[in-house]
Amino acid sequence: MDQPTANQTADGKTPDQRPEHPDFWCKRFGAGTTPWDAGKVPDDFAAFVAAETTPLRTLIPGCGSGWEAVLLAEHSWRTTALDFSPVAVERARGVLAPVLGPASTVDVVCADFFQWQSETPLDLIYERAFLCALPRKLWADWAQRVAELLPAGARLAGYFFVCEQLKGPPFGIEAAQLAELLAPHFICLEDRPVADSIPVFAGRERWQVWQRKD
Ligand SMILES: C[S@@+](CC[C@H](N)C(=O)[O-])C[C@H]1O[C@@H](n2cnc3c(N)ncnc32)[C@H](O)[C@@H]1O
Repeated sequence: MDQPTANQTADGKTPDQRPEHPDFWCKRFGAGTTPWDAGKVPDDFAAFVAAETTPLRTLIPGCGSGWEAVLLAEHSWRTTALDFSPVAVERARGVLAPVLGPASTVDVVCADFFQWQSETPLDLIYERAFLCALPRKLWADWAQRVAELLPAGARLAGYFFVCEQLKGPPFGIEAAQLAELLAPHFICLEDRPVADSIPVFAGRERWQVWQRKD
């Protein structure tokens, strides 16, 4: 049997074939193969932002192109748009160029969500196509990290790919499994189907808002 090369894991996969590795995403951003990218701010999130009366300190993990961060900059929300792929970060900096600068409330950071620390307490983590980009073996760590980063009363809001799709990314999560991950630390405030999904998520995406318990 062949031994794995220095660049391969025991299953024979190279980093650019493993979604837990930045190379996987760099390759796709570099090739312009980004079927998950909505190219706009989805409606439910735009409505959520419009309904808030004060700016929220926000984290966007796995921000990709960072369309939503443009909206948050326009609303002066202190926002960290974070991605571990340097190519994605470069893309986000391009999309955000009109709103970045010394007076901007938005930072684009190249970091791993599982290592990054916030210097100030967060009010919101915005989710879109991040959990479903993570291999299932990382989901418990994701839930733990989200709970660690959000103080009591803060919210996790966004889009969840709720279906049985085993092969991914995007990896589907069943409603009961998502509830099992989040219910120990969060209460679900909103859960409804999404009307403006792009084709890869259509009919299988839900807008949800979860609030951190004490
Ligand atoms: C499917 S894309 C979604 C991008 C964006 N949220 C959107 O909706 O277009 C997943 C993103 O998560 C990033 N990502 C995956 N694992 C990460 C991690 N551990 N830390 C930070 N970013 C990560 C990838 O680099 C990629 O840009």
